Amino acid sequence: MNRKYRKTIIAGNWKMNKTPSETKEFMAEFKSIMPKGRWCDVALCVPAVCIPTAVRAMRETRVGIGAENCNANASGAYTGEIAANMLVDAGCKYVIIGHSERRAMGETDAEVNAKVLSALKNELSPIVCVGESLEQRELGITEDWISMQVKCALSGVPEEKIRKIVVAYEPIWAIGTGKTATPEQAEEVCEHIRTVIRKLYGAKIARAISILYGGSMNEKNAFELLAQPDIDGGLIGGASLVPEKFVKIIEAANQPTV
Ligand code: PGA
Repeated sequence: MNRKYRKTIIAGNWKMNKTPSETKEFMAEFKSIMPKGRWCDVALCVPAVCIPTAVRAMRETRVGIGAENCNANASGAYTGEIAANMLVDAGCKYVIIGHSERRAMGETDAEVNAKVLSALKNELSPIVCVGESLEQRELGITEDWISMQVKCALSGVPEEKIRKIVVAYEPIWAIGTGKTATPEQAEEVCEHIRTVIRKLYGAKIARAISILYGGSMNEKNAFELLAQPDIDGGLIGGASLVPEKFVKIIEAANQPTV
């Protein structure tokens, strides 16, 4: 982390977990143990049907609510889909875009890019996920792959909007597997992502963008991961479903930075 230049963000990704009633229970417990005072930005990205409950529960707090996906189109005949402006109207501040689980369902880089542009147009902060498979890592093409994903996702994003973007590096082999990247492995790729952004937008912007790590981050390994200079927070799946665990990760983000 480097709080001098950029925000630290701890974001939860609930995936397809919790009902609206369970959301209400989680938020009540989370609120009662949430760290007070100087702490990082906190986001909780929840299933679409839980958004109204989450927004209502967190209204008086600094916790921003987010969605886990959006459609790139503004409106129309897209049965079952949700547009970015609908998320904003429901109270969302963030939207996860290009999660590997959605890419595995067929989402392309072009679609990820279109969704990023639509989110930005509606003043939502996109949390753009990139990450390599184990096979790609073993082939030694991680950096090339990540460069391609970042460049595609940010294609056509104007300089005045880029600061709203959050990038999450999530190695696919570390998601939900309990197999976390080492702090060195995670730092190496996060630093690379910043280099790609520097080449596209210049040093000042690259320095200001928050880059998160995701993939089995938990209350035990968060401190070490967050101590890396280019890891500005976490995108947390499993451990964000339990208030005490999520709070411990937020507390780990309150450590002194370089
Ligand atoms: P995990 O999920 O923390 O359960 O590995 C992270 C993510 O997929 O965002």
